[in-house]
Amino acid sequence: MKIVNLKLLNFRNYDYLNLSFSLNNNLIYGKNGSGKTNLVEAIYVLALTKSFRGSLEKVLIMNGKNLTKISGTIKDNIYHNYQVIISEDGKIVKIDEKKEGKISDYISKVNVIMFNPDDLRFIKESPKIRRDKINLDISQLDNDYLKVLNLYNKILKQRNAYLKTMYINNNSSIDYLNILTDKLINYGIILSTKRKWFINAINNKLKKIYEKITGVCDISIDYITNFSNLTVEEIKNNYIKSYQKDMLCGKTTFGIHHDDFIFKYKCNLFKDFASEGQQKNVIISYKLAEIMLFKEYKNTCPILILDDLFSELDNEKIKNILNLLDDDIQTFITTTEIDLVDNNIKNKSKIFYCSNGKIEEEV
Ligand SMILES: Nc1ncnc2c1ncn2[C@@H]1O[C@H](COP(=O)(O)OP(=O)(O)O)[C@@H](O)[C@H]1O
Ligand SMILES: [Mg+2]
Repeated sequence: MKIVNLKLLNFRNYDYLNLSFSLNNNLIYGKNGSGKTNLVEAIYVLALTKSFRGSLEKVLIMNGKNLTKISGTIKDNIYHNYQVIISEDGKIVKIDEKKEGKISDYISKVNVIMFNPDDLRFIKESPKIRRDKINLDISQLDNDYLKVLNLYNKILKQRNAYLKTMYINNNSSIDYLNILTDKLINYGIILSTKRKWFINAINNKLKKIYEKITGVCDISIDYITNFSNLTVEEIKNNYIKSYQKDMLCGKTTFGIHHDDFIFKYKCNLFKDFASEGQQKNVIISYKLAEIMLFKEYKNTCPILILDDLFSELDNEKIKNILNLLDDDIQTFITTTEIDLVDNNIKNKSKIFYCSNGKIEEEV
């Protein structure tokens, strides 16, 4: 899968942009604050309809404007035009000029894998950040995942609201709560099974890739869930057991919305002992593992974005990483220091110079 061209209107610091990319390597360089991350962010938003930086969509619209348009031609087996339009009124997505009703139908179509320095949050910060990330990653691979997740979240909201009603009104029927709980369990089991599958599949690749980059093995991700190894009956009993507590706090305390994913080196928690460099290596290994899964399960190779990699890792690691990539992958690499980039990479790349919301191709 490749992005052939990109058009932007009022996206962050780009008022208008129309670029054609190399189907292999693209190198974007420029000073800090010039718009390199904004450019690759636009590709990410074109694929996933939202940014990896924060959740507010309005910040993507250029200051002082009321709408941003991102469009691009994607070549997979055939060419399609994709478009994301974000305005104060919300978001519209289109494929070949036709509006898509559901964002969840759009999301798994253009596949992008992105490395960004902010990704360290994935290891360091809260379980919610990891769940959101893993949800998005599985959604790109599995069309149904996001649909089931949306249903799960809808029922969870209803159940939490009903728990509050029950707390206020003693006469509320428990039957309705049971109906919601059963639905939550059904969707939860589907999601949990998919998460387990995904983490297993990633783990099978992750160890080998991390070893190739760093020379060290024994890395893994643990999937932590309170559904772990329980039968449906046992899961049901847990909801019954926590019902009083749930009612008191007005929310569902048991279930897969508390899942977590933990990086481990042997038996140690990665976030507690690994250096930033090691954490970056494990994140990049995770992304490369994802690329392999795309090939295996979707028979396509996602677009790879490596934002600011050169300021993050030493040259030898970067060489190891690039050596692991197949020739058929399209990459976008951004850097402030073009001089740090190996001549080999420069020679096979289309090079773009970025400055204050303008991009020029170097010839
Ligand atoms: N909504 C926006 N409207 C206008 N400019 C923006 C908007 N959001 C970010 N910017 C500008 O984009 C620039 C940062 O671009 P970025 O791509 O992060 O830089 P870098 O080249 O360092 O990756 C900053 O100058 C910032 O002011
Ligand atoms: Mg940047």
